[in-house]
Amino acid sequence: MRTTEESADHVGPSTLRRLTAAWPRRATVRTHMDEITGPEEYDPELLDYPVALMPFGEHPDFQGASEDKRRTVNTLGWIAYNERVVAAEEFVVNPTFEKLGHAVYPGVDRFEVKEIVRQSHIDEVWHTYMHMLGMQRTREAREITAEPDCGHPVTNRLLYQAQEASGERSAADLLYLLWTTVGEVSVNAFLDLMARDGTVQPMHALIARLHARDEAAHGPVMVEVMKDVFINLSKRQQDFFVASLPAGINAFCTEDFDWWLKVLAFAGIPKARDIIEDSRGGGGHAGLLVTDFSGILRMLRELGVEDRVDFDFAGAAAAGTTGRGA
Ligand SMILES: [Fe+2]
Ligand SMILES: [Fe+2]
Repeated sequence: MRTTEESADHVGPSTLRRLTAAWPRRATVRTHMDEITGPEEYDPELLDYPVALMPFGEHPDFQGASEDKRRTVNTLGWIAYNERVVAAEEFVVNPTFEKLGHAVYPGVDRFEVKEIVRQSHIDEVWHTYMHMLGMQRTREAREITAEPDCGHPVTNRLLYQAQEASGERSAADLLYLLWTTVGEVSVNAFLDLMARDGTVQPMHALIARLHARDEAAHGPVMVEVMKDVFINLSKRQQDFFVASLPAGINAFCTEDFDWWLKVLAFAGIPKARDIIEDSRGGGGHAGLLVTDFSGILRMLRELGVEDRVDFDFAGAAAAGTTGRGA
């Protein structure tokens, strides 16, 4: 039983109770479904995905390609953005919520935790549906009849690699929880990249905005759940979790250059490989898509492990602001 006092910026049991009670009024599946499922105009002149988020947007060889091909890349970029969200929800977050509901992790057998995990799970399934509809509208409007087979996005690929390297089942379960926690506390930094963009289809920004509204609650939920789990882990499990955090943070925040390469090649952009190699920026932090670590840093402080995580947050944030040129 936790006895610490809650302060304004502190997540705690009463936060969970407040968020649970507000869910019927807050959840966008209840408040905004008609806006997403109803008819929506599509302006073919507008972009599908912000050029500022294409890591090679300013590359002269990309700029030199025909408008047709650049437009195809832009549309496939929007589809990739959605696929990345859906893959994270379907293959990482929802399986973790199921594990939380099935008491796979220690310390989360309270009803109030199980209730809010179920609520969040419902939100996630709705998000997947919302992003599916968004993609389908775009495919129909742009008459997309073929797409590159890119497999799983980078966040999932890196989880599967870490899982394979970990060997043990309990370590793999912890990695799912870690990937989900990092994702849930920083998905809004990812969604905000689209949510406030005025250069793309209004529906695309709306989907990101609505999704972000639900996720504003999921972040504090996962921090609270993670705190309960973490104090109940063995020392060895805690050390494994802390040591795995940089990989989870990188997996969530990194740009998916391998995916982009397939998209450029599929669209027939000349020198696709050179463009991508130039855009990787020599590796390191320059290849990050998300560089807002505020949610992650708050979570690390709540867990009391902020001094033990081997990740250069300041350097990565600085590389993000200078590397993208957006
Ligand atoms: Fe979501
Ligand atoms: Fe979420």
